[in-house]
Amino acid sequence: MEQFQVKDKTLAPQGKLQIEWAAAHMPVLNTIKNRFAKEKPLKGLTLAACLHVTKETAVLVETLVAGGANVVLCGSNPLSTQDDVAAALAEEGVHVFAWRGQNTEEYYSCIDKVLDYDPVMTLDDGADLVGTLHSKRPQALKNVKGGTEETTTGVVRLRAMEKDGSLKYAIIAVNDAYTKYLFDNRYGTGQSTIDGILRATSVLLAGKNFVVCGYGWCSRGIAMRAQGLGANVIITEVVPTKALEAAMNGLRVMPIAEAAAIGDFFVTATGDISVIRKEHMQKMKDGAIMCNSGHFNVEINIPDLQSLSKAKRIIRPNMEEYTLKDGRKLYLLAEGRLVNLAAAEGHPSEVMDMSFANQALCAESLAKAAKMQPKVYTVPKQIDESVAELKLKSMGINIDKLTAEQQKYLSTWDMGTT
Ligand SMILES: NC(=O)c1ccc[n+]([C@@H]2O[C@H](COP(=O)([O-])OP(=O)(O)OC[C@H]3O[C@@H](n4cnc5c(N)ncnc54)[C@H](O)[C@@H]3O)[C@@H](O)[C@H]2O)c1
Repeated sequence: MEQFQVKDKTLAPQGKLQIEWAAAHMPVLNTIKNRFAKEKPLKGLTLAACLHVTKETAVLVETLVAGGANVVLCGSNPLSTQDDVAAALAEEGVHVFAWRGQNTEEYYSCIDKVLDYDPVMTLDDGADLVGTLHSKRPQALKNVKGGTEETTTGVVRLRAMEKDGSLKYAIIAVNDAYTKYLFDNRYGTGQSTIDGILRATSVLLAGKNFVVCGYGWCSRGIAMRAQGLGANVIITEVVPTKALEAAMNGLRVMPIAEAAAIGDFFVTATGDISVIRKEHMQKMKDGAIMCNSGHFNVEINIPDLQSLSKAKRIIRPNMEEYTLKDGRKLYLLAEGRLVNLAAAEGHPSEVMDMSFANQALCAESLAKAAKMQPKVYTVPKQIDESVAELKLKSMGINIDKLTAEQQKYLSTWDMGTT
């Protein structure tokens, strides 16, 4: 069986340094890694991971390996692999099949290679691994005990599988832990999306009309950080409560059809399809810049953009200029894929520390669990809270404990107005 496939194995020393830098900012995962090294909770288990191959993912992989697992890894996006990190992991003996700039066929061939290892557990980001396993490799399902899912879009797809009865094993929705989405989706995507936009464009955000599509966890973070840089943030939403929240946070809210005509920047992070499409592009100002931070590259309708255009050229890395038939120029970053991972390095390590601590602890709990029903499960509360406790400890922050009187007061009903 093929051992690994990466772009350039000679990049390994540089990748090793990146992994070291990430590990130095991931104290929670390091604590878990040290315990795993002693207890070996994953001993002899083959874990298939389909995750963005970043320096932080490498620290997670090293943690799982310390716990005794045999990890087989592929990327969860054709443009997000950090080739130096992939090379370093290959050098460490991890079976990694990933490189930046894959076409769709190469992307799925790497998922197939991972599944050739007959995993007992899957760690997925977006549910392409689970989807391929169920639809194309059903014979491999019998070995699989359980899995985890990292992102909102993956959880949405898995819940749809559970609903129509096609999900064949238990999955823990890591995304839905407080210590994941409150920090990773909000502060992680907030900072790294701005980072991606700045690296790709190098333009000023202050004073610009910055349209954020969605006001969910990721889009709230993006809006918050863009506002902090002085942009005039405009929100588009489909859920009234979220739109109201945006309005009360002082942001302008309007339909995308209106925002299209005034935006300088457009960022989608909805998990939805064709949020920005032909009718909106037709209204955009000359020079408008579009990008996406949602999981799949379907939020901006790229075929629509192509059909409106007469020419396309690459201006800078991760920036394509489309010249429309009417002469206007529109810019698309990172081919409409996750701009924070394709044009920058994904979330900062401090945030992934918590997301991946949840991944490691959920993998351990699945390994120890008796047979679970094929459903989507939430992260056990005790895991979520232990990650928060470890993170606070690593930050040197102490908090109060309930007194006996307070515990009693909060669990009884007989004391009212005094
Ligand atoms: N870039 C990253 O690193 C990263 C990190 C985490 C999650 N994600 C992905 O980002 C996407 C959003 O995740 P989330 O956790 O913020 O989800 P969420 O459910 O909290 O938010 C999505 C929001 O988009 C809104 N929405 C849906 N369709 C819309 C439309 N047509 N127009 C305007 N708003 C619309 C929804 O009402 C919701 O408020 C998902 O695809 C998720 O997988 C990306």
